[in-house]
Amino acid sequence: MTLDFSILLPYIPMLLAGAWFTVKASLCSVVLGSAFGLIVGAIRVVPFAPVRGLAATYIYVIRGTPLLVQLFLIYFGLPSLGINLPAFVAGIIGLGINSSGYVGEIVRGGIEAVPKGQWEASKMLGLSYLKSMRYIILPQAIRSMLPAIGNEFVTLIKESSLLSTLAITELTMAGQQVRSVTYASFETFIAVGIIYLCLTSSTSFALQLLEKRWSTR
Ligand code: ARG
Repeated sequence: MTLDFSILLPYIPMLLAGAWFTVKASLCSVVLGSAFGLIVGAIRVVPFAPVRGLAATYIYVIRGTPLLVQLFLIYFGLPSLGINLPAFVAGIIGLGINSSGYVGEIVRGGIEAVPKGQWEASKMLGLSYLKSMRYIILPQAIRSMLPAIGNEFVTLIKESSLLSTLAITELTMAGQQVRSVTYASFETFIAVGIIYLCLTSSTSFALQLLEKRWSTR
């Protein structure tokens, strides 16, 4: 067997367009997932067990079911309730919701890592629970959460390949299309894999630089 990558040359723009879409979709999902995850994580630590249980159940269900099933539920299932979402929107919401379960746990860990004395001190200052959380605890917790949320972005770049099952032309779907016209399956998916590697490693590298900068301040 001989590999002939030159057959892919005319299709490189197509793959790069898919890669660009992958980046945009992952970025939207990580923003949505982090915002939602921050809320879930904060609810996960309220001093009222039933409410805490609600957030714990949410995280339990989200992390205990496959992302693919969640995507299908949103894209193919919701129309039964009259909710028809465009594939891209359904995909971003699905990825975002999935990510929020993982971010919720990151946030909980971050909040719990803030020394108890900080809670006591803000209580002494007469701050309410919400104010302590908003002004004292979260600002400190977020610092320790950022690296993990950065990793979440890298994870989403890879997980977004599942969006191809909703007929969204991200990188994996672009690969499928190139494969179906060139019949060069091996070459195509080697190229797709390399592009994913470039995306994940350059993102990790950029995040490392940011982390270094933030930790020296
Ligand atoms: N592959 C996992 C699944 O099918 C999804 C993992 C998502 N992870 C994340 N950190 N968002 O359930």
